[in-house]
Amino acid sequence: MCGIVGYIGNRDSQDILLEGLKKLEYRGYDSAGIAVFTTNGLEIKKSKGRLAVLEDKLKGDPLEGSVGIGHTRWATHGKPSDVNSHPHTDNSMKFSVVHNGIVENYLELKEELIAKGRVFVSETDTEVISHLVADEYDGNIVEAVQRAVKRMRGAFALGVLTEYEPEKLVAVRFASPLVIGIGQGENFIGSDIPAILEHTRDVYILNDGEMAVLTRNGVELMTTEGETISKEIFHVDWDIVTAEKAGFDHFMLKEIYEQPKAYRDTMLGRMADDGKSVNLKELSMSADYIKSIRKVHIVACGTAYHAGLVGKSVIESLARIPVETDVASEYRYRSPIITPDTLVIVVSQSGETADTLAALREAQKNGAKVLAITNVVGSSVAREADDVIVTWAGPEIAVASTKAYTSQLIAFYLFGLHLAGVLGTQEQAEVEALIAGLHALPEQVESILEQAAVLKQVAESMSHHKSLFFIGRGVDYAVAQEGSLKLKEISYIHSEAYAAGELKHGTLALIEEGIPVIALVTQEALYEKTLSNIKEVKARGAHVLAVANNGSEEEVAKSVDEILAIPKTLPILSPALAVVPLQLLSYYASLALGHDVDKPRNLAKSVTVE
Ligand code: F6R
Repeated sequence: MCGIVGYIGNRDSQDILLEGLKKLEYRGYDSAGIAVFTTNGLEIKKSKGRLAVLEDKLKGDPLEGSVGIGHTRWATHGKPSDVNSHPHTDNSMKFSVVHNGIVENYLELKEELIAKGRVFVSETDTEVISHLVADEYDGNIVEAVQRAVKRMRGAFALGVLTEYEPEKLVAVRFASPLVIGIGQGENFIGSDIPAILEHTRDVYILNDGEMAVLTRNGVELMTTEGETISKEIFHVDWDIVTAEKAGFDHFMLKEIYEQPKAYRDTMLGRMADDGKSVNLKELSMSADYIKSIRKVHIVACGTAYHAGLVGKSVIESLARIPVETDVASEYRYRSPIITPDTLVIVVSQSGETADTLAALREAQKNGAKVLAITNVVGSSVAREADDVIVTWAGPEIAVASTKAYTSQLIAFYLFGLHLAGVLGTQEQAEVEALIAGLHALPEQVESILEQAAVLKQVAESMSHHKSLFFIGRGVDYAVAQEGSLKLKEISYIHSEAYAAGELKHGTLALIEEGIPVIALVTQEALYEKTLSNIKEVKARGAHVLAVANNGSEEEVAKSVDEILAIPKTLPILSPALAVVPLQLLSYYASLALGHDVDKPRNLAKSVTVE
């Protein structure tokens, strides 16, 4: 977690650093700080709270200088406070470090450094790095950083400055993302490309164990062992405007409304023009390999995991291959049975989630091939996987994932159809019906978005409740889980998702007069069963809102208090529609409660620590 930026050039660095940090706030925003070489030497200003607090601090007393580093924090070691904020320094105040990641052996190193007389002021693992670099320094900052890094275990991306060599900015990547921006007479570092995109479109993407020494006029690349390396420049052709709010009040709302486009973009070029087949040409996996797959593991975190739950049904029903799903933080530690005939699919919007990356590596270590479904080209997950399906959702800025989730569903539908094409597990007519169904989804989503005003009203009345439930069967249950997570994370209302048939085995005890229950009723084959479960909660006083298909709403309406009809599609495709009203409900509930929709408390967009 956390975001880092750095600048070395001829312009004033403060505003460049602050602008970069604004783009990185999604990575954490409990404190921020910058360090700049001024005429007084290396000066640091930092503070607890949003970046705006730091900006205020700098307004009356700016740091003037053309070399600096900056940081926006998501606390791991030590609570959010001024002193725990980055950049950190050593006792001589001659070194300064910004860090994203975790130094696992920091306590051991700290004790050693304290024994040498170094005095620590913060609770962070990062402060250890600044003392360690200072301790290793004997006139060459690059070698000092290399020696320090050799002693550190964990994950880190670093930006390091020393007053002794003010013409250098040293950057290191070890399992946390870092890019180097190449300018004219100026160079940059950033945790991701948008942080520096305003200034340059030419970047180096560092790999683990690589570092860069930036001066005004050049970038020297090497391994942390000191071996010189060369890399191709990656030219970024994204439009920076895509990362702006485009007139919406919040990024989340903008991203919800971008879903029809994200669906279309993700499908583009991946289906035959005659609508008869799907062909994921980007995949390197051969037909023989596909025929050899005996099981699939889908591994991911949070919302991406919920997409995986739908992915399981898709692959099992279309390709008839057994699928297991795991949250990535559990996968590695449960000794999963991974064999060379297991295909492991990791799903990650950011492509940088530490647990997901660890699962990917565990799978490869055991001889399995890994397919990544990710939204970020060039991300760690994308680079390390054997095959990648990119979801073309565009940058997702809001912490709560919406268009990335639905694009992941589209990726699963495409992959399921790709497998079915190779394995011959589906009748041609069914394939064509599914493809037609996929093509219809974007417009169907548009028609759901037109019902936003109704959902706003429902959300406002729901927002007074302390707790509520989402229920559904089959893929509706998977969608219920995503709806519940979305509501919790941005409205802070407690909610739980239940397989509708499971309520009576315990949870029914929690149903009391007036409690809202959101029931997903899109699976025709399960209508009657779900309606019985709805009656069970109604009988205990629940207020039920049903999300049901057009055409069945009259029947469902008899059993519920409110109904939201969504366009009818094939049962397996319905998650790509049914989740949309739930996203809007969460958005409007959060808004009604006055929360910061795009930056919910305690969370960050990209979780690069385990
Ligand atoms: C919730 C949300 C998270 C992420 C999870 C995985 O709205 O966004 O649950 O889905 O942290 O992140 P990625 O997909 O980047 O690996």
